[in-house]
Amino acid sequence: MKKDNFSSRLGVIAAATGAAVGLGNVWKFPYEAGQNGGGLFLLFYILCLIIVGIPVLVSVFLLGRTTGKNAVGAMKEIAPKSWWYLNGIMGLFGAFLLLAFYTVVSGWVLGYIYKAGLGEFSNESLAELGRDFAFFIANPIYPVIFQGIFMILTAWIISVGVTKGIERVSFILMPILFILILFMDINAIGLDGGGKGFRFLFYPDFSKLQISTVLSAMGQAFFSLSIGLGAMVIYGSYIRKKENILRTGGEIAVTSMVISMLAGIAIFPALFAYGISPKAGPALLFITIPHVFSNMAGGSILSIVFFFLLGLAALTSSISILEILVAYFVQEFKVNRRKASIILSFITFCLTVIFSWSFGILSDWKVFGKSIFDLTDYLISNIMLPIGGLVYLLFTAYVIPKKRLQEEFLSGFPKGGGFFKIYWVLIRYISPAAVVIILLQSIISS
Ligand code: PHE
Repeated sequence: MKKDNFSSRLGVIAAATGAAVGLGNVWKFPYEAGQNGGGLFLLFYILCLIIVGIPVLVSVFLLGRTTGKNAVGAMKEIAPKSWWYLNGIMGLFGAFLLLAFYTVVSGWVLGYIYKAGLGEFSNESLAELGRDFAFFIANPIYPVIFQGIFMILTAWIISVGVTKGIERVSFILMPILFILILFMDINAIGLDGGGKGFRFLFYPDFSKLQISTVLSAMGQAFFSLSIGLGAMVIYGSYIRKKENILRTGGEIAVTSMVISMLAGIAIFPALFAYGISPKAGPALLFITIPHVFSNMAGGSILSIVFFFLLGLAALTSSISILEILVAYFVQEFKVNRRKASIILSFITFCLTVIFSWSFGILSDWKVFGKSIFDLTDYLISNIMLPIGGLVYLLFTAYVIPKKRLQEEFLSGFPKGGGFFKIYWVLIRYISPAAVVIILLQSIISS
């Protein structure tokens, strides 16, 4: 993304929203909620968004805007000769792992557009859909082709910096995805036996409370807001001074939360109505959605449209992940943008292939009893993002001079003095304490 390429004030905000909303909301949220007790997970996800997510998002936006730089550059500018910038470097490794992981699932989504186009899902039973999915992802070649196409699209957008295109996608197509999910929600309300799904998603059963649920919910809050690796520092560097950052951060968090919840409503009643286990894991969306649509008139077209829009939502997120890497090499080492995009995406793609094969020919490779794919997911969402986010909190609260932070906060929100005070207490004490307690408690009880 080149500077000033965003055509309107709203452009960068739309792009940041597009970066936040993606597979995390529609694919990951439902399966994590399914594996972690539904209502309890939702409750802690929302609490984590408010107590930690929004404060971190606002902090990284402020950091990006006050310096106009990527994460590493920004921390080096504010605290030269210190080690803080290493958090940005850790973010680069995280981004590399996340992009490889993200591309695997995005490739499945592209594959499902194709399969829906061939009409493969009509008349398939649930068992067949489940088998089909397992068969597809275990294939050593087909998913990799789709993952390759997805990676090329991501690299292409980042190399030419077509931010106008991103804005347009975020502006026009995302609302259509939103409407399609709403439509599925309405359908879910009428499903026989769907009530159990609503109860599962909205009723927190405290007798099942475990620290692992809280940790996963916190990880989900970080993942769905794209915070902890430095992506939002870059978007922050494009936000204009007259923009109210608290409002922007709040709006992004609410949008992300609403889309996750709506995706949950589209999926859980159907799960219970059709007898699919909520613990189906990463396969959940790919089994449920085709089945929901196969029971509707015009369902095969709707399946194509759904996976197409989800693919675009994934693309507006994947470009933000690749941009973490590219912006670093372009800004810090003056590497040519095109070259950086091609080389970095190629290296990432090699890792994507290994992750993808972990569902097939490499499925015996297990570390701590988890496949490499699951392990990477756990490592990124539950460890790297929270630790990265914690360091950003500490950096904004204790290293950026308070006066500079306050001016940056108030520059688009002159009457926000009271809000700044609340934000200040949160980032100095409450938010970091929450992250530390959840992480420590998880270590102790594991
Ligand atoms: N928030 C994105 C999603 O929900 C994923 C993401 C995480 C993107 C971290 C960038 C950084 O799909």
